[in-house]
Amino acid sequence: MELKDRLIIALDYSDEAKALELVSLTREYAGVYKVGFELFVSAGPGIVKKLTALGGKVFLDLKFHDIPNTVAQASGAAAALGVLMFNVHASGGIDMMKKAADEAAKGGKDSPLVLGVTVLTSMNDRVLKEELGLPLGANAQALKLAKLAKEAGLDGVVCSGQEIKAIKEACGKDFKLVVPGVRPAWAAGDDQKRIITPREAIAAGADYIVIGRPITKANDPKTAAKRVLEELQ
Ligand code: C5P
Repeated sequence: MELKDRLIIALDYSDEAKALELVSLTREYAGVYKVGFELFVSAGPGIVKKLTALGGKVFLDLKFHDIPNTVAQASGAAAALGVLMFNVHASGGIDMMKKAADEAAKGGKDSPLVLGVTVLTSMNDRVLKEELGLPLGANAQALKLAKLAKEAGLDGVVCSGQEIKAIKEACGKDFKLVVPGVRPAWAAGDDQKRIITPREAIAAGADYIVIGRPITKANDPKTAAKRVLEELQ
């Protein structure tokens, strides 16, 4: 895999034109673009085809979480869009994840990677224990869900930089880790708390890093993307 294919830029826009402009500016330095709720709900599934036409691969970040049958159907629809990867909540359970993986795999070798979402980084120990009644706390719960995702046959999980080593150890080197909350040393932290630099993330074993605002909100997004890729090299 080329290094630039490990850089995922988060297209957190509601305006399709802005998203496409960012892609044109950064295509040389990034191989994958993340389409989340904001852009997908505003622009519709057609945005995936437009991004693919510009040469970008797509991470469809819609975090499916429903009964197994419903998630299986949605997974088939995501695969039919031709995305590189999409995700489902690991807390939906093994049966739900297995059905998502089975449905996604029907396309053969061009099938998308299916990733599990473990514990959202907006959740801390207090929220898990006091609000949700989950006793383990965030780190242990994330590791438990990563193992469950592996058992269900998913290709990997989305995780924070702090969890890379433990999850790789538990789930093996081929289990793909996609890591957001990445900040180059020269960029502002924004609202991300548990941050890691691009170089640290890759050195720790991340397969892909997700970067949004340090590139999308930069005065010069092209140069920002170039600097991130250079740091990875
Ligand atoms: O702008 P920034 O680099 O913080 O964007 C990171 C992207 O990764 C956002 O789209 C955010 O929703 C997503 N994300 C995250 N933390 C997670 C999961 C996803 O920041 N645990």
